[in-house]
Amino acid sequence: MEIVVFGAGSLGSLVGGRLARDHEVTLVARAEHTEAIRDSGLHIEGELEATVFPAATTDGRGLAADLAIVTVKSGDTATAADALATGSFDVVLSLQNGMGNEAVLADVLEGSILAGTASYGAVRREPGTVECTGRGEIVLGAREGGSSVLAERVGRAFSVVGLETTVADDMPRRLWGKLAVNAGINPVTALADVENGAVLDPPANDTARAATRETARVARACGVHLPNRVALESMARVADDTAANASSMRQDVRTGRRTEIDAINGYVLDRASERGLEVPTNRTLATLVRTWERARGLR
Ligand code: PAF
Repeated sequence: MEIVVFGAGSLGSLVGGRLARDHEVTLVARAEHTEAIRDSGLHIEGELEATVFPAATTDGRGLAADLAIVTVKSGDTATAADALATGSFDVVLSLQNGMGNEAVLADVLEGSILAGTASYGAVRREPGTVECTGRGEIVLGAREGGSSVLAERVGRAFSVVGLETTVADDMPRRLWGKLAVNAGINPVTALADVENGAVLDPPANDTARAATRETARVARACGVHLPNRVALESMARVADDTAANASSMRQDVRTGRRTEIDAINGYVLDRASERGLEVPTNRTLATLVRTWERARGLR
């Protein structure tokens, strides 16, 4: 298969790097990362190891492939969609944090859009090198739910190269479940500058659990079956599995980048407002992170 990974940061490089063992992969990445990969290949360290030689470019316009995997930050999805629209792809898979990414891609692109979530831990160590800090799972499927032959095909390609992958027919519920995890872990670890495991214990656990519980309630109001217990257990499991990791939002704050708050707690807030629901913890967390971004001229 010909595969383009659009936005090959840490997770995109990890996934693209594994796929490059069996497929013709092109990574669309930042300049330094692209140059390092062209010079001496892509090195994957940690729990998954490989050195591979995918093509790499900074220019995502005019590309063509069987599959495009989008791994950009949610705030960059519209720009990615515009660039992808100048090329041609049979299938586009969003492997991003936050909600609403697939709808943004579907607005602009003609190929089939698949939804996905990834819980692999990945950190970029230096240009050309990423570390897999925790084996996780990729879940993908039709964005509206139901079975999909294309999702089965993409899922097989992922599994064959050793990426733990589940093809799911209930992606809306899976996406809300992931959102409930991110709504609890990401802003709390970013604002307190702590590792993911900190949300398992007092005093951070109350705030993280409240944000997760509120998210599950909004999911149910949107017609998605997500019991509080299931969302809370899932948040605790991910925090435990990734206890020593820095969440993506904490990494963004530490490196002075705009975060994905709008597509995580901001999304919960918007859906809650539409339904007349109060989500005070998500509101406070979103306000604090947005205040941090505003003070740094990031919004
Ligand atoms: O955004 C992240 O960092 C990850 O989605 C998660 C699951 C919170 C693990 O760090």
